[in-house]
Amino acid sequence: MTGIAELTTNAAVAGDPCGTIRDAAVRVHAGRVAWVGTTDAATSSAHRPGRDGLPVVDAAGRAVVPGFVDSHSHLVFAGDRADEFAARMAGRSYAAGGIRTTVAATRAASDDDLRRRLRALVDECRAQGTTTLEIKTGYGLDVETETRLARLAAEVTEEVTFLGAHVVPAEFAGRPDDYIALVTGAMLEAAAPFARWIDVFCEDGAFTADQSRRVLDAGRARGLGIRVHGNQLGYGAGVALAVASGAAAVDHCTYLTDDDLSALAASTTVATLLPGVEFSTRQPYPDARRLLDAGVTVALASDCNPGSSFTSSMPLMIALAVREMGMTPAEAVWAATAGGARALRRTDVGRIAPGARADLVLLEAPSRVHLAYRPGVPLVRRVWKDGVEV
Ligand code: NIG
Ligand code: FE
Repeated sequence: MTGIAELTTNAAVAGDPCGTIRDAAVRVHAGRVAWVGTTDAATSSAHRPGRDGLPVVDAAGRAVVPGFVDSHSHLVFAGDRADEFAARMAGRSYAAGGIRTTVAATRAASDDDLRRRLRALVDECRAQGTTTLEIKTGYGLDVETETRLARLAAEVTEEVTFLGAHVVPAEFAGRPDDYIALVTGAMLEAAAPFARWIDVFCEDGAFTADQSRRVLDAGRARGLGIRVHGNQLGYGAGVALAVASGAAAVDHCTYLTDDDLSALAASTTVATLLPGVEFSTRQPYPDARRLLDAGVTVALASDCNPGSSFTSSMPLMIALAVREMGMTPAEAVWAATAGGARALRRTDVGRIAPGARADLVLLEAPSRVHLAYRPGVPLVRRVWKDGVEV
């Protein structure tokens, strides 16, 4: 591709974490990035566009960013909670209990129905520039359904997370420890072959720190990587537990103490912020500026789910992070690409550099700033995943 007005490579350069190249070109070979540089350098070298017989795309003065890495979604479910959203917008507050509504609909749905809905949502993500997508289970909450959800998610992504510990299902009401025994026993055993990660919702109304630790320990022993939902609805033990467990990421991070902040800054755990949730629940937004100023690695993700954030739009996350959370446009674009890759411990995505996957987004805009400057406008013009246009 040639004629790229602004290429965001995310190659760390002093003073520019986005590794920006102006008037740039990218050469792709066999699904990977083979070369990046200026259009001038490409024209006068072995990388001359078209030389290898491959088609040349002229970006014609538009910007290119890495495909978005959405490191947190809950896309396998049935049912609809638009009424719950409308009630919330009429003044009712958000409570995690709505999860059980989706669980009932999901258990009753066939594999084909779940697969059809899942694929439609994945297509929706791709059309908006998401090329790497993490998908959680968590709307089954019994051995059979959690396993089905993990298997279906594995059909569309390699980043599957087992979230049997989302909430305690109705049939275990008052017996959370019995449910934890099931999650860490038969359920984990059945779902783990399809999963790369384990996650737990560590929050009042979901699981305590001690219960959450048992879940994470069992997942680690089964060879899964660790992620945590924490500090969403109030202060709590999620961040401390995530850091102590060596989690790749702790997600939400809306309510953080100074101790949480120092623990994150001293760790390799990424703080993943999910502003679609605050938008859709009228909660206060997390303070990204405070995290960044403390030296914490921040990612942005959609948390796409039918309850607290039914949007798959990473451009919307970037716009919200800039407008409401104190991030600069460059920081937000980095967090939605390289940040997501860190949160998934991936080095092959989230950047445009030789050897990385050729996951590219051509924007209908001259710069990445437009992703926040023109909120709600469909700026994603063309998308390539592994070098193939989607
Ligand atoms: O990430 N926090 C827990 N789980 C989801 C909400 C799911 C739901 O309300 O259905 C979340 O926000
Ligand atoms: Fe979530």
